Amino acid sequence: MKKTEMLYEGKAKKVYKTDDEKKYIVEYKDDATAFNGEKKGTIVGKGVVNNKMSAALFAILEEEGIPTHQVELLSDRESLVKAVKILPIEVIVRNVAAGSLAKRLGLEEGTPMKKTILEFCYKNDALGDPMINDYHIAAMNFATDEQLDTVKKYAIKINDILKKFFIERNIKLIDFKLEFGIYDGIVILADEISPDTCRLWDGNSNKKLDKDRFRRDLGGVEEVYQEVLNRISKK
Ligand code: TMP
Repeated sequence: MKKTEMLYEGKAKKVYKTDDEKKYIVEYKDDATAFNGEKKGTIVGKGVVNNKMSAALFAILEEEGIPTHQVELLSDRESLVKAVKILPIEVIVRNVAAGSLAKRLGLEEGTPMKKTILEFCYKNDALGDPMINDYHIAAMNFATDEQLDTVKKYAIKINDILKKFFIERNIKLIDFKLEFGIYDGIVILADEISPDTCRLWDGNSNKKLDKDRFRRDLGGVEEVYQEVLNRISKK
């Protein structure tokens, strides 16, 4: 499969068309941004980690019955994926209060939630990805009711699978962000699952093993990305 024109360059990835109109090549970059692009930097090796980690997790999810965009790993930084039309919704799944939820509800970070929380944001950088609910999604035609039901069902199932997978590697899955797309008329999981898009805490020490080290200037950013990939690759 050959790259043809670049379709889109995002903050962390480039997406290329290929000679197969139903496939894209995603190239993961080391560029990092936070706070809607206000903070910019580089995390050396991040693109390789995120590409390999996403490929590994998508393979596990597929085995468990979740359709994903992943076709195959092409190189350290590139994956072949299905050419989906992304739904303009970010789905956030939370097991433990952290980040914007802790702030919004006045909770201490690390407070476990009695029930898994699903949140939706409208994927729109100019507006700062505002939070929305089912009514906005229907009123704005971001997804049909049926598509949204599927998204919710998959998000909960993905959480169950990943929580178990990570805890077996002594990592607590605090929260994460998912994106879905439409391919051949059906909803499939797209984008990435990586330390950029998850909060991952060490099972013993609660040490942050994710992008919060970059967002909050905690240091040791490159090291924890490698550490997460090592723990995932071992078992
Ligand atoms: P938040 O607490 O800042 O709302 O983030 C919730 C989760 O979503 C966290 O795991 C980080 C992830 N996330 C993204 O993947 N992209 C984003 O743009 C933001 C704001 C959060």
